Amino acid sequence: MRPVEIRPKIYWVGVNDRFTQLFEGLWPIGEEGVSYNSYLLIDEKSVLIDLAKSIETDEFFSQIDQLIPISKIDYVVLNHMEPDHTGILGVLRKIAPKITILVSEKGQRMLQAFYHLTENVKVVRDTEELDIGEKKLKFYYTPFVHWPETMMTYETTNKILFSCDGFGGYGALRGALFDDECKEQEFYEREMLRYYANIVATFSKPVLKAIEKLSSLPIDIIAPSHGLIWRKDPLKVVSLYKKWAQYMDSPAEKGVTLLYGSMYGNTEKLMSSVLKGLSASGVPTEVFNVTQTHVSYILASLWKNRGVIIGAPTYEGSLFPPMGDVLQMATVKRVQNKTAAIFGSYGWSGGASKRIREMVEPLNWQVTEVFDVNGGPTQEDLQRAERLGFEFGKKILEQP
Ligand SMILES: Cc1cc2nc3c(=O)[nH]c(=O)nc-3n(C[C@H](O)[C@H](O)[C@H](O)COP(=O)(O)O)c2cc1C
Ligand SMILES: [Fe+2]
Ligand SMILES: [Fe+2]
Repeated sequence: MRPVEIRPKIYWVGVNDRFTQLFEGLWPIGEEGVSYNSYLLIDEKSVLIDLAKSIETDEFFSQIDQLIPISKIDYVVLNHMEPDHTGILGVLRKIAPKITILVSEKGQRMLQAFYHLTENVKVVRDTEELDIGEKKLKFYYTPFVHWPETMMTYETTNKILFSCDGFGGYGALRGALFDDECKEQEFYEREMLRYYANIVATFSKPVLKAIEKLSSLPIDIIAPSHGLIWRKDPLKVVSLYKKWAQYMDSPAEKGVTLLYGSMYGNTEKLMSSVLKGLSASGVPTEVFNVTQTHVSYILASLWKNRGVIIGAPTYEGSLFPPMGDVLQMATVKRVQNKTAAIFGSYGWSGGASKRIREMVEPLNWQVTEVFDVNGGPTQEDLQRAERLGFEFGKKILEQP
């Protein structure tokens, strides 16, 4: 894309990533892509805010060159040291060695650790201001949104919050850069939730703290470093993030995530009956075969729904391993406070449901029913599974 003017002399100069298969080497974005939004402010002092991963560096620098010679840039603000926003720093430094890097206190230490840079580095304090001519920048430390060093940069004249990872999402830009131009809001909202559940969820408390800290700032535009720029309704993304952050410690939406895995189809038969019951209850349900769907997508559903039903067979005295992997990831991401039910098939002494309980109880999941079936389910077993789904769905819908 070419540079896009956001406000007079403030430009988007980002990069679309449609090459990387796994974000953070872990989360699939092959189909969805991601953007690394960088911003250029031209004033008496010119400033770049956040950079990009080290891809498409030619395009990145040529976008800037269309606006100002790179050697004329005075500052680069690094809100966050993760390489998706700093990867091209080394090249930038070689092209323009005089640029002063502005970072938080912890950012300075990370800059040294990751890039071994100490020259022309200036630490900005929390709420410190920087006059750049007609415009003024103010820096707000927002630790752990996403790393400990993370801050956000506020431009006071146009009331733009450059929020870096905060209020960001997956999804490469598809022509439209602003919320009001975008016809695919549903796609971006879905990918924002998946990004939240994958990247940000663990840090839900720091997210709420940051939102509280910035709550008195007048904001006209939220310009994150991933995804759309929000100018029509900037508070929409703030309320989405706030809502999701609160799901860590209070019940989420009235919906059910049904997870299952099956080696020879017995647990799957039970699952079909559970699903029938859930459907009859009217509760919104999302179903995942854990061996077919990447945990990235499963986490988004788990985060959003207050109900979880887990169906898995016993495997070598314990839980079918792919289900264990999903629950382990749910533990890492602190998927907490769920209402849950468990079912599955076993051959001789069982063990899956016990292991599931051990894994989910520390997450404060209330297990309302466990239904173990020996071998292939009978007609009665299938009826009971259907009842389990129906009653579970009703229970979720009737919760306050
Ligand atoms: C590789 C493998 C390991 C198993 N280990 C156990 C076990 O340790 N204890 C047990 O009770 N059943 C065990 N079983 C039996 C399964 O739990 C049983 O066949 C069950 O019906 C499988 O459900 P599914 O058809 O949904 O895969 C094992 C089965 C397989 C294929
Ligand atoms: Fe990050
Ligand atoms: Fe990022």
